[in-house]
Amino acid sequence: MTRYKIPVIPGDGIGPEIITEGRKVLDAAGERFGFDIDWAEYPHGADHYLETGELISEDTLKELSNYRAIYFGSIGDDRIKPGVLEKGILLNMRFYFDQYVNLRPIKLLEGVETPIKGKTSKDIDFVVVRENTEDFYIGIGGRAKKGKSTATLEVMRTMYNVKFGLDIDSDCEEIGYQLGLISREGTQRVIRYAFELAKNRNKHVSSVDKANVLSDIYGLWREEFTSVASEYHDIKTEFNFVDAITMWFVKNPEWFDVVVTPNMFGDIITDLGAMIQGGLGLAPGGNINPEGTSMFEPIHGSAPRYKGMNKANPIATIWSGALLLDQIGEREASSEVVRAIERNIVNNKVKTYDRGGSNTTSDVGNDIARLVKNA
Ligand code: IPM
Ligand code: MN
Repeated sequence: MTRYKIPVIPGDGIGPEIITEGRKVLDAAGERFGFDIDWAEYPHGADHYLETGELISEDTLKELSNYRAIYFGSIGDDRIKPGVLEKGILLNMRFYFDQYVNLRPIKLLEGVETPIKGKTSKDIDFVVVRENTEDFYIGIGGRAKKGKSTATLEVMRTMYNVKFGLDIDSDCEEIGYQLGLISREGTQRVIRYAFELAKNRNKHVSSVDKANVLSDIYGLWREEFTSVASEYHDIKTEFNFVDAITMWFVKNPEWFDVVVTPNMFGDIITDLGAMIQGGLGLAPGGNINPEGTSMFEPIHGSAPRYKGMNKANPIATIWSGALLLDQIGEREASSEVVRAIERNIVNNKVKTYDRGGSNTTSDVGNDIARLVKNA
């Protein structure tokens, strides 16, 4: 029997409830496919922060880096200023583990309704590959009042360090500014990942940018896209401006196969993607470092309003668990989990409120776990 040790961070709000169901289904998959998961639970999130003042320590990160995959629920809590947990825990982990791919399948499962009139599961089946460590997410910027001031801003990554020394001379009352940066290396690796993915799909890669306005940052993106594309002769490509692609996602989702995007635009377009695949309750994601520690989480947040109500849809989390199984090499178990989700949906009996049902989070988890065990 193969044994895996998998750290799990349930987090805040509905996190613990949805993660419980995800674990249940992955354990069921293990029973059927002959592996055993030893879950190592970590307390990080709002309560832990309020009790100890710690977001996530260097020691914990080091310890977690011994593992291939982490299972993550959701973080965010009304008692804490927006951004503190997100930056201190989630983004911190994405950067620390250099999870440069944020993989977000946009797939309308059989039996799910999309709000887009006339489209079916044949039309909505693509993957967004979101760059996950750079762009406007590097978190450097500042505020400056009228007059002269200086600032030193630094980006420290596994791959590089970049330091900006700013001399500010402003006659505005006050300014707020934020720097975005992409590197040639960072752009190339994520675009290459998208092309490799497309090889085994429909051989089409769509790029997203805003090179018509933010031409320095996304001019580099386009240059790298063109350079990587030149190595893949049988893969079709095109450039899309981010505003236009939101329109195409709604009008012609069937055009897309693999969509590769800088970080911030990827954040925005994948919420839209979640909606066309049937809602946030059905949208999974993985933060991937192909050679290191990856982390799997639903793309939705912690929905504090529903905390402890056993009401939230666990499917996005269970599906993220399927992505985790794929990453650790349990391919067959991974596709069976997705198939069990599909069977639960097609049966149309056990479903949470967001899908028009009245079942609980655990009912749905139990049903999918049962389906995984009974081929
Ligand atoms: C997401 C979330 C995060 C992001 C937040 C919570 C930092 O919205 O995973 O899409 O912006 O990446
Ligand atoms: Mn988001």
